[in-house]
Amino acid sequence: IVSYLVLGNYFFNGLNFFMGNLIMFHDFLLIICYFVLFFILSLMLSMVVFSGSYFNNLGNVVLEVVWTVIPSLILLGLVEPSLTLLYISEAFSFNNGQVLKVVGHQWYWSYNSDLINSVVQDSTDYDSYLITSDLVSGDFRLLEVDLPLVVLANVPLYFFVSSSDVIHSFALPSLGLKVDAFPGRLNVGVSGGVSVGCYWGQCSEICGANHAFMPIGMEALIYF
Ligand code: CUA
Repeated sequence: IVSYLVLGNYFFNGLNFFMGNLIMFHDFLLIICYFVLFFILSLMLSMVVFSGSYFNNLGNVVLEVVWTVIPSLILLGLVEPSLTLLYISEAFSFNNGQVLKVVGHQWYWSYNSDLINSVVQDSTDYDSYLITSDLVSGDFRLLEVDLPLVVLANVPLYFFVSSSDVIHSFALPSLGLKVDAFPGRLNVGVSGGVSVGCYWGQCSEICGANHAFMPIGMEALIYF
């Protein structure tokens, strides 16, 4: 509650199943943490105020069992959603969905998406650069790109990520996705279906002088 009041929205909106639930789990965890915190603080306070309660309970076996078992049960209750989310974050099926190629360069991204309009680009392989001029009102400075990664909405997305030079990191916070891009290595990131719209991210691995200027723009659309 305090973090909400102080920080407000401290995450990007979770725009796929995984990230939405991850944020919910985080908030749930935070609530439990506050309960534990205030419970322990009140116990400590009561020991200071009523010192008798401490001495009267020395060697109290029932109390010892209770304060071992209850925290264990709380931890067990947290394991289930945590492991479920961890599993979802790497769930592959390949039965449907779209495969996307992402390659990091100093300092831009190149993509392969068969959805890119042939009028815009004559190849399905294309480079995506930061737009530094011609911004209009409502654009996000340092996040807008000339050619975004174009993906299908509502189907699983498989991002095959690599690099041509140094280590970059392909990160889309609202999808809960962060995949390191290594030269000579292929990493895969998975996202469940996303809704139609624009998504933004940034390179998340220090990769040189223009690390801050290789944003990730993604557009999800419905294909007829
Ligand atoms: Cu590419 Cu940092």
